[in-house]
Amino acid sequence: MTRKHPLARPAKPQGQVTRGKTAPNRLRQVDHFFLMYDPGLISRRDGEFDRALFVDLGYGAEPLTTLETASRLRKLNPALPVLGVEIDPERVAVALPFEDPSTFFRLGGFNMPLLPGEQVRAIRAFNVLRQYEEQDVAPAWEEMSHGVLPGGLLLEGTSNPFGSIWAANILRKLTEGGWAQEGLAFYTNFRLGFDPAEFQTILPKNYIHRVFPGEPIYAFFEAWKAAALENAAMKAFGLRQWFAASAAGLARHGWRVRQQKKWLNRGWLVLDGAPGHQL
Ligand SMILES: C[S@@+](CC[C@H](N)C(=O)[O-])C[C@H]1O[C@@H](n2cnc3c(N)ncnc32)[C@H](O)[C@@H]1O
Repeated sequence: MTRKHPLARPAKPQGQVTRGKTAPNRLRQVDHFFLMYDPGLISRRDGEFDRALFVDLGYGAEPLTTLETASRLRKLNPALPVLGVEIDPERVAVALPFEDPSTFFRLGGFNMPLLPGEQVRAIRAFNVLRQYEEQDVAPAWEEMSHGVLPGGLLLEGTSNPFGSIWAANILRKLTEGGWAQEGLAFYTNFRLGFDPAEFQTILPKNYIHRVFPGEPIYAFFEAWKAAALENAAMKAFGLRQWFAASAAGLARHGWRVRQQKKWLNRGWLVLDGAPGHQL
């Protein structure tokens, strides 16, 4: 009797093929963000987390970012299984030769192609939803939540072509199902200087069309721009100092922005909660 492959009748991948542009090291700082934001989630080996996957959803024309992420995150958890998911079969074929005993590539969509018993600790979906419509975001987040363990993370965001600036939703899987909007993260390596308006160009899809009066994300950017202006004298000490001073200004105006140097000196501005949903 031939045994049926568990994916013999896989579910139809949810989503659409989009442009596959990627670049080496484009998501390097996103990897570092995972390692700093929740190292315990990456390193966990207890119970169901022992073999829980890190998923890179929509890795693009070549699996560069998935392989780079696997090697960076395995410095913390050498046994970490990593799954790259692509909705374009040709891109899966390109990636398959790079598989190893803990790195896998599969055809799939927002409904991830998990084998029976597999579970997920974290998902990165970068530069994927930007090519969809705004109304596709919530259903895509919901689809991706299935198979993620309670406490798991989804980092869903957008970067510029080289990853020198990015912004991402931080979503945490709730025990009762679904996600909590735990935060909104912004990163810059300062090569473009520092101007809060720059981040408006790479906002995740749920915000990018909403920067207008009356919207919480607009209020956040107005506050950030005002804080940058008020602290413009700090520019004399360098862009990082100015960036940190703008974060302190945001905090003084009631925005829950992390003030620790470990974030600000490296160009990360982490807002706890989300504009309009501050926890
Ligand atoms: C612009 S590339 C991003 C590559 C990489 N993540 C990066 O940031 O460099 C977007 C990729 O997402 C894939 N994609 C789009 N929708 C998807 C879905 N629902 N499931 C899996 N992959 C998807 C596209 O086929 C495309 O290859």
